Amino acid sequence: MSASAIQELLANNRAWAESQTRRDAEFFTRLAGGQRPRFLWIGCSDSRVPVNLITGLPPGDVFVHRNIANRVVSEDSNLQAVLQYAIEVLRVAHIVVCGHYGCGGVKAALEGSTSGVIRGWLEPVRTACICSGVCASGPAGPLSAAVWKRACEAHTLEQLVRLRANPFVQDAQAHGQGLSLHALIYDLADGRLRVLD
Ligand code: CO
Repeated sequence: MSASAIQELLANNRAWAESQTRRDAEFFTRLAGGQRPRFLWIGCSDSRVPVNLITGLPPGDVFVHRNIANRVVSEDSNLQAVLQYAIEVLRVAHIVVCGHYGCGGVKAALEGSTSGVIRGWLEPVRTACICSGVCASGPAGPLSAAVWKRACEAHTLEQLVRLRANPFVQDAQAHGQGLSLHALIYDLADGRLRVLD
């Protein structure tokens, strides 16, 4: 990031903080006292899907985990720690796993077009899409728009299935802690979130 880019970021932040304080003098004092988010959001790292902006949720209302292609992985200690904290300590009422159309991670997975660490991270996405019949096995090639779209949906629903099987989720539900799970998909083309079933 160039010096002027970081200056822009800092100037934006100063203006934002000042406007928040003008609107609500207690805003930062209140937030500094603690968080009680209603939502845990598991989304893609894609810069075009900024959770608070697209949902209109204020600071303090959504606990966030993002990774490439919004994967729910049981061996991912980062995600598992987020899940445990959100469920056991913050006691969120809703967990949202949100995919998006046009996901570059899903595309790269299906085309086999990456290498190194990211290839290893995305490989299971392709395997799952083959298993569910969304894409064909055999050598990966150029991806059609229709298959890409279907893969984004199927992949996100698969993460919901994984969430349902998560021990922290199951434990909370077995103990009657109100916790609902949702799969949403965001459309980059119109800015709308839709529920997947
Ligand atoms: Co993505």
